[in-house]
Amino acid sequence: MRSNVFKLYDLPLTNKKELVENSQVQLTKKLNLATHHINHFAEPIEIEKLAGHYGTPLYIIDENTLHKRVRDLRNAYARFNGHVKLAYSVKANFTPAVLTSFIKDGITFDITSLGELHFLRRCKAPPEDMIYTSVTEEFQEYYEVLQSGIRKVVVSSFSGMTNLAKAAHKLAIKPLTMIRVNPEVGVKAEICASYKNGKFGVPLKGGTIDNAAQMVKHLMDNDLLHFEGFHFHLGSQITDFSCFIHAFDKMHNFMTKMKKEFPKFTVNTFDIGGGTPVFYNESVPTPSQMADSYIPRLNRLVESHGSFDLLIESGRYLVAESSMLISKIVNTKEYDEQEIVIVDTGYHLLLDAALLKQEYPQETVSTLNPSNEQGRSANGKSIHLTGRLCDTYDVFPQSKASDLTGAKVGRYVSFYNVGAYSVVFNMPFHCQTKPAIVMKTMNGEYRLVRRGISYEQLFIDEGGSLI
Ligand SMILES: Cc1ncc(COP(=O)(O)O)c(C=O)c1O
Repeated sequence: MRSNVFKLYDLPLTNKKELVENSQVQLTKKLNLATHHINHFAEPIEIEKLAGHYGTPLYIIDENTLHKRVRDLRNAYARFNGHVKLAYSVKANFTPAVLTSFIKDGITFDITSLGELHFLRRCKAPPEDMIYTSVTEEFQEYYEVLQSGIRKVVVSSFSGMTNLAKAAHKLAIKPLTMIRVNPEVGVKAEICASYKNGKFGVPLKGGTIDNAAQMVKHLMDNDLLHFEGFHFHLGSQITDFSCFIHAFDKMHNFMTKMKKEFPKFTVNTFDIGGGTPVFYNESVPTPSQMADSYIPRLNRLVESHGSFDLLIESGRYLVAESSMLISKIVNTKEYDEQEIVIVDTGYHLLLDAALLKQEYPQETVSTLNPSNEQGRSANGKSIHLTGRLCDTYDVFPQSKASDLTGAKVGRYVSFYNVGAYSVVFNMPFHCQTKPAIVMKTMNGEYRLVRRGISYEQLFIDEGGSLI
């Protein structure tokens, strides 16, 4: 069956939807999905020592894993016939120490707000390694973006493109302008960013001016903006890759049409967004398995439309498995069938556990000092792992890989693969403070990279000094 997927690019571009879908179902069944380890850290982490020193909850980031994920993602696209660039989507985790690690890898940064730009500038990332993709697309925003030295901007609406042109005119800069398209393909993923009438990007055709055809027309021979290429982002945690194949086919047809209309039309950069999945509950395809399923299709785009730089964006894959959250069991309750285990963290630190019912793999950490422990462990009863918040959503779904054996008061519970879309959502619900973050650096040292915040600091941040 794998051969079906790889031969799709030999088929006519019409009437192959069914084959793509059937192939994908079989692909997912047949792919030899790697057995995932609950812990991806290169070396053991001294959890008890760190938790004792910094207190809990505590995030720990492994820098080695960050760099390894960059290498893995880059290697996955080695068979693409052209130049491949990786972009880290800062929205997944803006911790300055994480940004600084990725700057060392020389990768690009996908940013979406002036705040993210500020963080990157403070970390001394070069502006030529940034691509700006905004949802708001205001004039002043683009003015500041261009002023900062960024030259690659993705526009997502006709009025956004007009604002960029105005800023470009005022600063006498001609930015490389990409159009964010919404290919309107079905995406079978929890987080889907491409659907009919969707918020992101413009459709290829339809509407009046907010479509890619109109925007390309305005960008051809434009005095203020230089047409650079296309961007789309289909969604996050994608494990069914047929949506990419559908999107590439739609882009192929569209680019053929544009070339007929505008002989000078060429695409220099083709940015296929994020979506590379990570392990939470079920095994997922590796980046190589993902890339292999559609690289032939991408190579065909190169054959038909000429060489372009392929930009792979990733937030989740690059950071998720680099981080764990350590919490402490602070209370338990025993019912006939199950044990309620209460930890000192909650969804204020792991929002996706409540929002998406994300099953972060959890594990009880046995303590070196059993005198800190109280009570009995769950005696084979099923464990309900809950957080410290007075809120019904504050219950942690468990991964198939979770192992809470021996959970009792005083022991620690590690939540793995929490590096993406968690720290960035930290919120002070119930006057909870942001915990510290420690990074295990490449030379094996533990370095405090974010201080925990005190109740007094939170009080002041919330206006306590203004009363
Ligand atoms: C435009 C864009 N690119 C890339 C990403 C990163 O996606 P992921 O974290 O699934 O890699 C996102 C996430 O929302 C996005 O909006």
